[in-house]
Amino acid sequence: MKVLVVGSGGREHALVTCIAKSPRVDKIYCAPGNAGIAKLAECVDIGVMEFDRLTDFALKEEIDLTVVAPDDPLVAGAVDAFEAKGLRAFGPRANAAVLEGSKAFSKDLMKKYKIPTAAYENFDNADDALKYLETARMPIVLKADGLALGKGVLICNTLEEAKEGVKSIMLDKKFGNAGNRMVIEEFMTGREVSVLTFVDGKTVRPMTSAQDHKRAGDGDTGLNTGGMGTFSPSPFYTKEVDEFCMKNIYQPTVDAMTAEGRPFKGVIFFGLMLTDDGPKVLEYNARFGDPEAQVVLPRMNNDIIDVMEACIDGRLDETELDFNDNAAVCVVLASEGYPVKYEKGFEIRGLDRFEGQDSYYCFHAGTKLKDGKIVTNGGRVLGVTALGDDLKQARSNAYEAVKWIDFDNKYCRSDIGKAIDEA
Ligand code: AMP
Ligand code: GLY
Repeated sequence: MKVLVVGSGGREHALVTCIAKSPRVDKIYCAPGNAGIAKLAECVDIGVMEFDRLTDFALKEEIDLTVVAPDDPLVAGAVDAFEAKGLRAFGPRANAAVLEGSKAFSKDLMKKYKIPTAAYENFDNADDALKYLETARMPIVLKADGLALGKGVLICNTLEEAKEGVKSIMLDKKFGNAGNRMVIEEFMTGREVSVLTFVDGKTVRPMTSAQDHKRAGDGDTGLNTGGMGTFSPSPFYTKEVDEFCMKNIYQPTVDAMTAEGRPFKGVIFFGLMLTDDGPKVLEYNARFGDPEAQVVLPRMNNDIIDVMEACIDGRLDETELDFNDNAAVCVVLASEGYPVKYEKGFEIRGLDRFEGQDSYYCFHAGTKLKDGKIVTNGGRVLGVTALGDDLKQARSNAYEAVKWIDFDNKYCRSDIGKAIDEA
């Protein structure tokens, strides 16, 4: 069969790598893809939001299945656009992707269906939000309602900071229209875990757990980024936690969406915090995480096409997921200065070391081909993933493989997976 993947980052490279393993797949296309993806798929120069061109391409090439990976097109209705032309697509329709697209929607859903999450209030004007803050306990968390590249969350320690935050989100529109509404919520403490799940509208099947490192600097300092590294599984995500989440969070979320007339098919990414009062939802995403996919998918034994089709056809109850009992660590290689200001266009050396390896992967995030050479083309450039028998071995393998790669202004965190030592 022919598969089209929509997207261009490290997550999409991990997805394409996983899809390429399926014996059912003859040909993969990726729109727009990147220089690494181009080794496994034919990249087509169509943007992720160009729904007419994407669907025309899928019709012309007789694509059997399209996988829409990023949040923006999902929330804007990419899957609906494919379905409207009679094409099969994996991912939630717009009315279900709102689970990620609107934080106010997701908080109201959790409240209505008693799914554990931080206490909160929604606001659609700055005056009410500022008034609410006067009596609120600090620290407090401010969230722009809409999509903001994972950056629309402010944690404020003082009332002054919180007031400035409300102004920047709602009045100065720091995150654009994402800030037309906002959520103000209770600050929680605990360990964070990411759990990606396959969902078919009724059944939910969790994949293995992972943990992300969002801050730019070692010791979780510096600015929030798209993600500087991940490890999988999380040693803190025990069997008891999994059972609690299945009963109180995963299944209730899937049932709530169906009850609301918004059946969710695709991947729900549960961002969890393991608090002293039990696991609570930090956020939902309507897609695979980036760079969570880069540590979760290399550990999966299933044919991912079978699982995706089971989601689309409502047959997930017949499918068991199968993950290797090993571990993976992904270290993101970024351009010095990311996420603020950085240079691009530097030649990347050492990529061939990864060829033919089955325990090491170099997923491309921001790269491009220039005059026959692969050069840096973004803030996050590569994700180096290594497998190991356990987390410590995976981490040491990943940091060994980081040395294979060289480019000007190469930057990475040196403490990805440090939490492993505390387990
Ligand atoms: P989100 O995009 O909602 O996951 O938020 C980004 C990050 O902000 C999370 O990964 C947490 O580290 C932090 N965060 C979000 N909500 C809270 C909260 N209620 N309490 C503490 N930290 C939070
Ligand atoms: N790694 C977090 C995300 O994909 O949103």
